[in-house]
Amino acid sequence: MDKDIQRIRAEFPILKKQVNNNLLVYLDNAATTQMPQVVEEKIKSFDENYRANVHRGVHTLGLMATERYENVRRQVKDFIGAKSSKEIIFTSGCTDSLNLIAATYGEKNIKAGDDIVVSIMEHHSNLLPWQLLAHKKGANLKYIELNDHQELDLKDAAQKITSSTKIVAVTHVSNVLGCINPIKELAQLAHKNGAVIVVDGAQAVGHFEVDVRNLEADFYAFSGHKIFGPDGIGVLYGKEQLLNEMPPYRLGGEMIANVTRTGATWAPVPQKFEAGTPNIEGVIGLGATIDFLKDFCHIDQIKEHEQELVEYILPKLQSINGLTVYGPQDPTKRIGVISFNLDRIHPHDLATALDLEGIEIRAGHHCAQPLLQTLGVEVAARASFSIYNTKSEANKLLSGLVDAKEFFKNGFK
Ligand code: ALA
Repeated sequence: MDKDIQRIRAEFPILKKQVNNNLLVYLDNAATTQMPQVVEEKIKSFDENYRANVHRGVHTLGLMATERYENVRRQVKDFIGAKSSKEIIFTSGCTDSLNLIAATYGEKNIKAGDDIVVSIMEHHSNLLPWQLLAHKKGANLKYIELNDHQELDLKDAAQKITSSTKIVAVTHVSNVLGCINPIKELAQLAHKNGAVIVVDGAQAVGHFEVDVRNLEADFYAFSGHKIFGPDGIGVLYGKEQLLNEMPPYRLGGEMIANVTRTGATWAPVPQKFEAGTPNIEGVIGLGATIDFLKDFCHIDQIKEHEQELVEYILPKLQSINGLTVYGPQDPTKRIGVISFNLDRIHPHDLATALDLEGIEIRAGHHCAQPLLQTLGVEVAARASFSIYNTKSEANKLLSGLVDAKEFFKNGFK
């Protein structure tokens, strides 16, 4: 595996960079992963050889661009186990995908008195669209709470998801706790009660194999930039029948069947949901990313590698006096995301101190404020590991934290 990691690291030139006179240790992968050369090359090749709009021109470049664009849709379909490429909609990111569902499926199907059930660990992207919809419609927003291990409480889920529930919206993996949620079980619970399930897959796809049909997900969303791909591109998977029944989201070019002075009819899915010129470069890059994940990284090894790093670092972190780690303690229940606080050191100070040593972590509320409130804190530090991170980098984080603790100790005397 170590040789494999070196082979993978070599694909990411940024990992050879110095930051503040130290070799970069990039541990903010839950925010954005780095992009391998092969993806950049594929995007460059589009720009140099067949840059044109899609689904419009009949000229050679337009046809080439359209063919490559639609090939990626088929690739995504296979990658996440969808039934048809009509179920794959390209969006600007996971946030856009989730807003789309709330503004279309949600608008159409939620009425006053209905329940929308989310988990307390949702990123704001999978919370605010539902909160707004509930306010607008007079619906109830209910939260599945955490159990004593700071995982999703399935007993609470079974109580909150009832015949009044119309939508269950949950994250596959928490961007703070790192825990993997039992989506299939939640999907079955939702379906038994006549609800649909919307899954935020931003922290799951690219870490382990995701099969939307096996998970029984109705909707599933993810972003390119968290799976070694470009920014500004995301995917929404939706069951074809649901997508067919939904009203359009954005209106404009390429999403219509016919327009007259007085009205319009809509194109079939997926075009109905792709108004305007899409992010073609992003889609081409996403295709290269999927090839990279499947063929170069062997996706099933990624989770194994992340869990190995978590298993290595978790007990060492916990042995630092004054350090609190959030989320389940069992590494097999999580991916490489670890959030923590150290004494009363503000996470921004901690992140700044580590940055001086070239170690990049995230600090703040992680766009999950209700979760942090539940954990009894306002902010936390977060280190997130990926396929290219090593034990030696984990050691640098550990010694950086010990140095920071020593440095800030004097301020609290
Ligand atoms: N959602 C991203 C994160 O958790 C930005 O950092």
